[in-house]
Amino acid sequence: MPNRRQFLTGAAAAATATAAPRLLAAGEGSSPADTTAAGNEAGPISELPNNPPLASKLFPPEHKFGVGGTQLGNIFEVTPDDEAENMLEACWENGVRYFDTSPFYGMGLSERRLGHFLNDKPPQDYLLSTKMGRLLKPDASVDSQGNWKGDLNFSYHFDYTAAGTRRSVEDSLQRLGVPKLDIVYIHDLTPGMLGDDWRESLEVARKGAMPELSRMREEGIIGHWGMGVNNIETCLAAMEASDPDVMLQATKYNLMDHEDALNRLFPKCRKNDVSVIVGAPLGAGFLAGVNRWLYSGGIPDGYWEKRDRIARIAHRHGIDLRTVALQFTAAPDVVAATIPGARNAQQARENRASMTAKIPAELWQELKSEGLIAQDAPTPS
Ligand SMILES: NC(=O)c1ccc[n+]([C@@H]2O[C@H](COP(=O)([O-])OP(=O)(O)OC[C@H]3O[C@@H](n4cnc5c(N)ncnc54)[C@H](OP(=O)(O)O)[C@@H]3O)[C@@H](O)[C@H]2O)c1
Repeated sequence: MPNRRQFLTGAAAAATATAAPRLLAAGEGSSPADTTAAGNEAGPISELPNNPPLASKLFPPEHKFGVGGTQLGNIFEVTPDDEAENMLEACWENGVRYFDTSPFYGMGLSERRLGHFLNDKPPQDYLLSTKMGRLLKPDASVDSQGNWKGDLNFSYHFDYTAAGTRRSVEDSLQRLGVPKLDIVYIHDLTPGMLGDDWRESLEVARKGAMPELSRMREEGIIGHWGMGVNNIETCLAAMEASDPDVMLQATKYNLMDHEDALNRLFPKCRKNDVSVIVGAPLGAGFLAGVNRWLYSGGIPDGYWEKRDRIARIAHRHGIDLRTVALQFTAAPDVVAATIPGARNAQQARENRASMTAKIPAELWQELKSEGLIAQDAPTPS
């Protein structure tokens, strides 16, 4: 029998600004960030990087690549319906079978759009994750809220209790209109979202959401559960408190910032047979040439220069920055999949193509010798 991490690894894997900064990230001349170097053609689906073979293939998708759902929820700007649909269609056509969403993404909009797309797909053909932690409430007065744009029509409150968990999972199933949830993540239980009281919420989740998700896993209502967070502390605490299967670690494992995850998160995940899914592998766009780092505004000190240096080295080897960023996040053994978001079909195709580009070993060596990535960071072979 495979252990739980092997099981999930197969599952997820499986299943899989401004012009100036864009140019900067692209390097000079042939502009690698436009994917010319990696090639716009995605290539055969079988070429997507796979996870190790499993004794039991419970999910058909087998690639270390999926797609995020924030753009379906109108993050940063409104994504028109047809663009959202075309993006998903481009993913499907190119063999992407892992889709992530959340009730929070556009206050239900991301789940509604994704569910509409998946509605006629055989459930066994894809891997689907959503999240819990916020319950939505109809509220016609709500339009844009924070990074979520457009008419939202819902507000929310945090709820990490057992009853709130079951309600959230049932609400998601209704919005999605699909018969199964492969993974449910406990969303945003972090100091960044909840302030100093986050440990109280952790305690609520320890007694409420965590055992309830384990129960729902036993009942077969969900496949697996874990944390979907932008910090490391919460993941470590959850592995102490309960028996999660998987961590959706967003923002702490990427080209710019990865040492803490390498040193503290990954060893603990290995020890506990917990898989990692990497969210925001492009830093919400920065590593694809967008003038934006993550979700709070502002670019950290030194990041422009570091990005420029990495992009120039990549360019010398004929590779674009985005391709380096995406393959970097998928390389560690403990990572089951990386899930960049895509605004439209073109971005979806480009990101998929990045996963099959051949990156010379010398490029990774140079990044290490220049101190641009950690010496012990796994890189693709
Ligand atoms: N706490 C959590 O659980 C958590 C937190 C964060 C993320 N996540 C998950 O991780 C997924 C990915 O994160 P993310 O979408 O926020 O960030 P990301 O994948 O790092 O970046 C996505 C953004 O990069 C730009 N981009 C993507 N492909 C591109 C291309 N080929 N060319 C040019 N630009 C490109 C787009 O920016 P523009 O839209 O400006 O074109 C896009 O919106 C999310 O969708 C979500 O599923 C989870």
